[in-house]
Formats: sequence, C-alpha cells, structure tokens
Amino acid sequence: MSINVSLGALSLRNPTILASGILGTTASSLIRVYKSGAGAVVSKSISINPNEGYKTPVLIDLGYGYINSMGLPNPGLDEMIVEFKVVKSKKVKLFGSIFASDIDEFKYLASKLTDYVDALELNLSCPTKMGVGLEIGKIPWMVEETTREVYKKSKVPVIVKLPPLVTLIDELTLAAEDGGASAVTLTNTAKAMKIDVFSKKPILQGVYGGLSGKALKPLSLACVFKAYEVLSIPIIGCGGIYSWEDAVEYILAGAKAIQIGSAIVSEGLGIFKKICIGIKKYLEENNIDKINDLVGLAHRR
Ligand code: DHB
Repeated sequence: MSINVSLGALSLRNPTILASGILGTTASSLIRVYKSGAGAVVSKSISINPNEGYKTPVLIDLGYGYINSMGLPNPGLDEMIVEFKVVKSKKVKLFGSIFASDIDEFKYLASKLTDYVDALELNLSCPTKMGVGLEIGKIPWMVEETTREVYKKSKVPVIVKLPPLVTLIDELTLAAEDGGASAVTLTNTAKAMKIDVFSKKPILQGVYGGLSGKALKPLSLACVFKAYEVLSIPIIGCGGIYSWEDAVEYILAGAKAIQIGSAIVSEGLGIFKKICIGIKKYLEENNIDKINDLVGLAHRR
C-alpha cells in the first residue's frame, strides 16, 4: 500500500517530515534523516547573516516535554546555500525554513533560496527572540502580507508555520491561505519558561523558550482540528508526535502530513520508518485505501 501524499504541488513519498530546528544545518545531517525514511526534511530557520544564538543552557528537559531557547543559531544564507546544493544533488525533498525581522528581509531570503529548495517554510512564530518579524505569526494581517510578499518572490510552494494559539488559529491560518500559502504547519513550539527557585531567576538567557514534545501535542492537535474546519489548503501537523498513534490522531484531526522533531531525541531516526509502518497497518486494518481518505475523519459526526 502506498502512503505517498500531496501537499498542493508538492508530492512526498510518505507523510513524515523532519521538523525545523533539529539536525537541520548541515547537508550531511539532512541527507541522513531523509535516508532514514523521512518524506521530506526542513532546515533550521535561516537568516540573511550568520547568527550565533544564545549561551547555554539552551534546553530544559521537563520530563513531559522540552523547553528550548537556542536564539535561532544558523550559519546564514550564503553558507546554507552551499549545504542545500549538496542536499539537492542527492534528490532529497528539502524545505528551507526562513526567519527575518521584516518583510523586506523575508523577500530577500525567499528570492535567494527559491532555486535550491522544494518549498519555503516561513517561521513566523519563534518564541525565543524578541521583537519584529518573529511576532508576525500572532497578527493575522501581518501573516497575510508577509506570506503574499514571499509568495510573489518564490517559484516554489510557500508553507507558513504558526504558533499554537488555539483561539486565534482560524484567523491566522486563513490569513496565510489568503496570502497565497500552499500549506500551513501547525504548530511551532509554545512560548514557555522556567524559573530557578534558588537563584530566583529565569533559567534561560532569553527568558522564554519554546515548549515542544509531549506537552505540546494537545494544543497543536486542537489547532489542526480548528483550522481544518475553515481552511482549503493542506495542514501539516507538528507537536509531540512520538508514535503512529500520534500521527493518526493528527491525520484524523485534519493533517495531511506530520512533522517530527523532539521525539528524535529519545526515539532516534528509526522513528520515521516506524511511524510509516504503523500508518500503513492502520489503513489496511481499517480498509482505507489512502491517507487522503483518513484526513479529517474525526470531524464527521
Ligand atoms: C527556537 C526557534 C523556534 O522556532 C522554536 O520554536 C524554538 C526555539 C530557537 O532557535 O530559539
């Protein structure tokens, strides 16, 4: 049975995708993840200039999820294009994630990267760096305008990654759709923090971090479910996917594909194949022909 999926003009050999932020800054790691079974891989978010990121600690393991605050470290546009050329020479399905502090920077990044990737994913929702472009994701008109300007510069599909704001997610996703997005990724991490009771101070240098992993799943799932009721474009689910059951939940809520990030830490790269096998078996046992027939089934009453 085939579990290939299409996201607008993009077709993937299976619905599992490496989420941005993990193993995403070098060609060798991106290729390794694709070879281990992912249907596509997303790079770490790229800025025009190299960015060092925050000092340690940058990751807190809560037991029920992680809070990370890397500060968007990346080697910058020119260096990443070198890596992307290598990735593309291996026929890997590659999404380039970008972040910027204003629309002009987003446009510049899109125009420079569009020849080296299969899709662009706009990170409009980083919870760890303060200000400007990184807060776009919570303001519908800014989501729409940014998406539209990037769309005009891009030859490849534009995917918009949004924060897990359940109450606003219908407006935000519709704004992305109106701006020309081919798909939305729901969701990025949730803004979160931890305080050290002995020093009486926030633990992370940037104060806030992004909550990911198991704790994020119910929030992201609710975003997918809610957005599915208003959207026409496909949804990529992301947040706390550790098993095929988690993946199927997202698909039933309305996702056509899913991204995996935090789970790689404990489950390893075998997780992509494992989830694909689980989805295939589930489809067979339920006499469902293709993933498309499963998408959004939880909405039927
Ligand atoms: C960082 C960026 C993100 O988009 C996110 O969700 C969490 C952390 C970072 O680099 O700090």
